[in-house]
Amino acid sequence: MSETEISPEREPRAVCLPMLKGGFGKSIFANTLGGVLGELRNHDVLVADLDPAGHLSTGLGYYTREDEDTLDLGDVLLEDANPGDIIKQPGYGFDFIPSVNLETVTEDLARDSVMASDMRLKQDLVDPLLSDEYEYILFDIPGSRNKLVNNAVVAAPNAILPLKPVPEALNGMRETATKLVGEIRQHIDFEILAVVPNDLRARIDQQTKDRRLLEAMNTQEQFAAYLLAGRDGVDPDTGTLPEDVDVGEVLDNHIPPFARVTADEWAAIDEGEIDPPKIPIRHSAAFGDAYEERKPVTTYDPECSQIQHFEALAEIIERGGIYQ
Ligand SMILES: Nc1ncnc2c1ncn2[C@@H]1O[C@H](COP(=O)(O)OP(=O)(O)O)[C@@H](O)[C@H]1O
Ligand SMILES: [Mg+2]
Repeated sequence: MSETEISPEREPRAVCLPMLKGGFGKSIFANTLGGVLGELRNHDVLVADLDPAGHLSTGLGYYTREDEDTLDLGDVLLEDANPGDIIKQPGYGFDFIPSVNLETVTEDLARDSVMASDMRLKQDLVDPLLSDEYEYILFDIPGSRNKLVNNAVVAAPNAILPLKPVPEALNGMRETATKLVGEIRQHIDFEILAVVPNDLRARIDQQTKDRRLLEAMNTQEQFAAYLLAGRDGVDPDTGTLPEDVDVGEVLDNHIPPFARVTADEWAAIDEGEIDPPKIPIRHSAAFGDAYEERKPVTTYDPECSQIQHFEALAEIIERGGIYQ
């Protein structure tokens, strides 16, 4: 490695959670990863809530009523306020930009010139802050597409995608792949760092919802095509991949080892040769309780057994991928 090259482990990174579906765990992931990267791993971290509904902000004790007098993201993106004017210090190991007036900000961005309007967050927030002030910047986004979602994927081209074991999970993945990831990859190099099952609680040696999600993620060529949406020769709508693509390898590269169950392992589970593993991330009451207490789970319940899996995700973020 030459002297000027930074080790990939140390490269600062902006990360977003662009799942185009509500309720799969984006906001829980944003504040837990903020706590793990910032508090447990001692990085300089900024988390920003880009969801007008502001659940993440509420969960950290910030109330998101509309207020014309408060400086907001619009003042940074469309006026000449400094990011520092809107950054808060909740005290949980990371800095935070709460959701304030975001409906208005989104409307104002939509009136901005078309080319500029998707670049604002990168130019006015991430470029000045990433490396100089923060090693990691995380964006929590709403579950439906708007101008701020476009801004987030341009500014933070590294995605973590949580999925819950519900019937609409694969639909959410398809929407995200075809409408967002595939499209953005026509313009920039956009990485899915990890796709992560969340809120699991059922057995996987029976036909449960958990099993349906985990088996689909871990075996389907269609799922691999979602992950590679927008790359040459990939059609996420039909699930077509170029001939030289190895489905298992694509899945290895996008599903964290803690959630990777290969075809051979499914067979062994069904033959009763191995005990069915309890795949994370599990359902844990600590997440809801932490929310009620207006703290990330890393502060509310540092003993919560699921935090170790967020540490594994934090390592993936640090490395820039599962096997980089
Ligand atoms: N692993 C989990 N265990 C228990 N509850 C969870 C878990 N993940 C998410 N939840 C709950 O599910 C709901 C939706 O999660 P949230 O992070 O708000 O999703 P999103 O931001 O994608 O809409 C919240 O009430 C949250 O507390
Ligand atoms: Mg949310």
